[in-house]
Amino acid sequence: MARRDFIIHTPEEIERIRVAARMTAIARDQIAEQVHPGMTTKELDDLAGAIIRASGGVSAFHGYHGYPGNVCISVNDEVVHGIGNPFRVLNEGDVVSIDVGIQYNGAMGDTAKTVYVGKEIPPAEKRLLEGTRLSLEAGIKAAKNGGFVRDISKAVERVAKEHSLGVVRDFVGHGCGIALHEPPEVPNFAAATKGPRLVPGMVLCIEPMLNLGSYKIYVEKDQWTVRTADGSKSAHFEHMILITEGQVEVLTRV
Ligand code: MF3
Ligand code: CO
Ligand code: CO
Repeated sequence: MARRDFIIHTPEEIERIRVAARMTAIARDQIAEQVHPGMTTKELDDLAGAIIRASGGVSAFHGYHGYPGNVCISVNDEVVHGIGNPFRVLNEGDVVSIDVGIQYNGAMGDTAKTVYVGKEIPPAEKRLLEGTRLSLEAGIKAAKNGGFVRDISKAVERVAKEHSLGVVRDFVGHGCGIALHEPPEVPNFAAATKGPRLVPGMVLCIEPMLNLGSYKIYVEKDQWTVRTADGSKSAHFEHMILITEGQVEVLTRV
């Protein structure tokens, strides 16, 4: 059977998705502000749980395929899907990716950012965080009504290469809105096919996962935590965008 390869949301759905996305963006920044040296990543996940509850929504990740955390917390060589750990103390020099998903009123938000623990960010970490953030911005800029998913992918990949960062290929962005993961896939590299055309009502998560070293990754024995194969540090930024007749709307920008 032919699977639908993209989803167009109705205006009524889009109203609810906008609200959930905005709640998620606010929670993302509140959680990121809590990061400080000396805390454990489990403490950070507990704080995230409290922030999500206070928002009025529920974690979109907790229980998703059995995921145990409230949010994903991925430190240094952890790329994505890291789980808060009571024995992992954050130290100055760590880079921490925080990925937040909130379900509210039947709609989903999904957004991520990476922060540096400490005051003076060293040049390599700065290149990693700025390069990843800028690759996401380039992807957003490349998303145009009437264009193709691959336009986004190419722009992300170009900026990643300009910063000499490895582009993770085994995990990709995605449609989002009513389910956490909807079609289509949004790769961070130019795939062989153009992918679907971008049309009004599409909601996409663009989420570059870039490494200081090789693009290669592996999944840990816990079946969740994704790590770089070479142990290099990794960053992850994610925004949800809505394709409209005119300018693209970034639903997770606050
Ligand atoms: N937030 C991830 C994404 O951006 C998905 C996390 S699923 C979880 O697509 F189960 F690990 F939380
Ligand atoms: Co996410
Ligand atoms: Co996502």
